[in-house]
Amino acid sequence: MIGRVHKAVFPAAGLGTRFLPATKAQPKEMLPLVDKPLIQYGVEEAVSSGIQTIIIVTGRGKSSIEDHFDVSFELEQLLESKKKTEMLSMVRLISDMIDVAYVRQKEALGLGHAVLRSKELVGAEPFAVVLSDDIIASQTPCLRQLLDVYEFYGTSVLALMEVPGDQISAYGVVDAELVLNGSDNRLFRIRNMVEKPRPRDAPSNLAIIGRYILTPQIFESIEAVEPGSGGEIQLTDGLKHMLRERPIYGLKFEGKRYDAGDKLGFLKATVEFALERPDLGRAFREYLNDLCKQ
Ligand code: UTP
Repeated sequence: MIGRVHKAVFPAAGLGTRFLPATKAQPKEMLPLVDKPLIQYGVEEAVSSGIQTIIIVTGRGKSSIEDHFDVSFELEQLLESKKKTEMLSMVRLISDMIDVAYVRQKEALGLGHAVLRSKELVGAEPFAVVLSDDIIASQTPCLRQLLDVYEFYGTSVLALMEVPGDQISAYGVVDAELVLNGSDNRLFRIRNMVEKPRPRDAPSNLAIIGRYILTPQIFESIEAVEPGSGGEIQLTDGLKHMLRERPIYGLKFEGKRYDAGDKLGFLKATVEFALERPDLGRAFREYLNDLCKQ
């Protein structure tokens, strides 16, 4: 029988060097996209995909993430006394949304190492991994799309996206075979994967994006791999190790992904999300139109 996925791990202990100086004393995951921190988008995606528990892997200087998902008594009291009921319910919703557990990664030793830190809290269950700087706008939440594949095949599933050749070396890239399952040519069985290949060595244009459903055997696989460059333990190496024993699928998800951990990607997401907002969209569009005429 296939185990159900109840938990999602959010690695949030990286240094965020691409976003310095903003991330010198502030976690990248707390950067606001319009008015919500990046990590809240990921948590909302997990909740609407049916996840019940969130495990956040944090590091030094990340306490604002814990505060964000905690109850803020002073703020709630103030809003209550000023009869700001809408704001009050919005603030309460964040702490009521889901159960959150935290585990520390003392040193940023790589994504694989961060995922391994959640081993005790995850236990022997399949689980999701969400990298919250990958923001995905879609009709069906991306994690839900992966869970649907997992619930059918009962094995690990990665989110895949086509990436132009000149950008491929920033990603983990898969060598994969299309699964003809009557769907719309989005499902692949993975043969191999390469972390950050040179464009001419890339086995395809399909890159791994920050959403995963993993079976618990991944922990043994991560433990078995040697640290790579910079002493970092890569999740891709753990996945490659697991692939020797178990099938892994990849789904070219439906939706648009923004790399909000990168300055340009963050700006694009900010503009597009603001334009979609009922309370801001029209005024912001007018402003942009005026700006273009100048
Ligand atoms: P990134 O590759 O974006 O690295 O990590 P980073 O350190 O956060 O940012 P840059 O590249 O220096 O700008 C992908 C995800 O993995 C987490 C990050 O927090 C991010 O969510 N991560 C990475 C960890 O939790 N621990 C690590 O040791 C490395």
